[in-house]
Amino acid sequence: MKMRLFVIAGVVLGWLGLVVLAGGGAGGVEAAAQCDLCADNWFFILGAGGRTGSTTALSMFNEVPGIHLTGEHFGVLRESWRIWERLRTIGEKYRVSAFMGSPTNDTDFMCSVQSMVKAIVFGNNRDEIEESTRILGFKEIRYASPNMMRFLANAFPCARFLLSVRNNVSVPLKASAFGDEAWMRKKWRYSRDLFQTMNKAFPKSTAVFSVEDLTVDRFNAFLHDMLGVQGCTFWRVDVRNSEGTFSKEFRMGKSGLKGVCDLSAVSFRYSNDELTRGQELWVQLAKDLHMIPRLGLKNPDALVMEEGRR
Ligand SMILES: *[C@@H]1O[C@H](CO)[C@@H](O)[C@H](O)[C@H]1NC(C)=O
Ligand SMILES: *[C@@H]1O[C@H](CO)[C@@H](O)[C@H](O)[C@H]1NC(C)=O
Repeated sequence: MKMRLFVIAGVVLGWLGLVVLAGGGAGGVEAAAQCDLCADNWFFILGAGGRTGSTTALSMFNEVPGIHLTGEHFGVLRESWRIWERLRTIGEKYRVSAFMGSPTNDTDFMCSVQSMVKAIVFGNNRDEIEESTRILGFKEIRYASPNMMRFLANAFPCARFLLSVRNNVSVPLKASAFGDEAWMRKKWRYSRDLFQTMNKAFPKSTAVFSVEDLTVDRFNAFLHDMLGVQGCTFWRVDVRNSEGTFSKEFRMGKSGLKGVCDLSAVSFRYSNDELTRGQELWVQLAKDLHMIPRLGLKNPDALVMEEGRR
């Protein structure tokens, strides 16, 4: 008796559900807003491993009102890259009825990546900061691999990149947290070469900062020419880790900026021609990046996957 009641209740609820769904809108699923991968001004600070000055750059650019950058996040976008790679095989390798469907639309997928990155960047303070933010992004040290560089370029085609490297890898290493010393030095060298190759191909959207040469002028040139911020200048470099070790975190009481920053002219958008040229460049660049000597390191794409566990 009880059993039958449940079944009837279930059927009624099921019908109600269908009615609610059908009433939800005549046009099928809600039409997504136009997906525009260049709608926001994305700025990323990528370190060629740790101890390359990326935290210095992070704290300096975060001093600019209107720029909001978040710190490391365990390189979680590597997982997004994996999902993307996986989905791309559907409709290519997997042409069986169990996998039927249209190949994933790259632009749609990358828009969902951008929206996830926004959740990472703004965290719980979104209401407070989103409106006053004109340039947003993160710093991360776990993306120095050919596949990740290409993935980021696809997901953020109008982004600007500050690539921090260490030229002199023969510095004393005191931070045991980074694990094997020889490994760390190889990683520095490999990632530096990777970033320099990127920079040669995309001098307008990338700049290489070496930790040995962090001058106020370099930061100001990036601020004004690469980001398009006007009206303010840095007057000092917030050096934290030039010695290859963990440095004491410190807060300078005084702002490192002079003047009043004006971000009203900031726009990272490229023309369609420039975007197409960029995509064409990637064909050759992807090959060049894979040719960089690995110094006995494992496949760097596998390497960045492993690094999350370090
Ligand atoms: C992917 O979707 C966008 C709209 O978001 C569309 O303009 C584009 O043509 C689609 N790409 C392909 C390859 O169908
Ligand atoms: C690299 O750094 C080490 C330690 O600070 C120093 O002894 C060496 O001279 C540096 N090498 C170069 C080429 O600057």
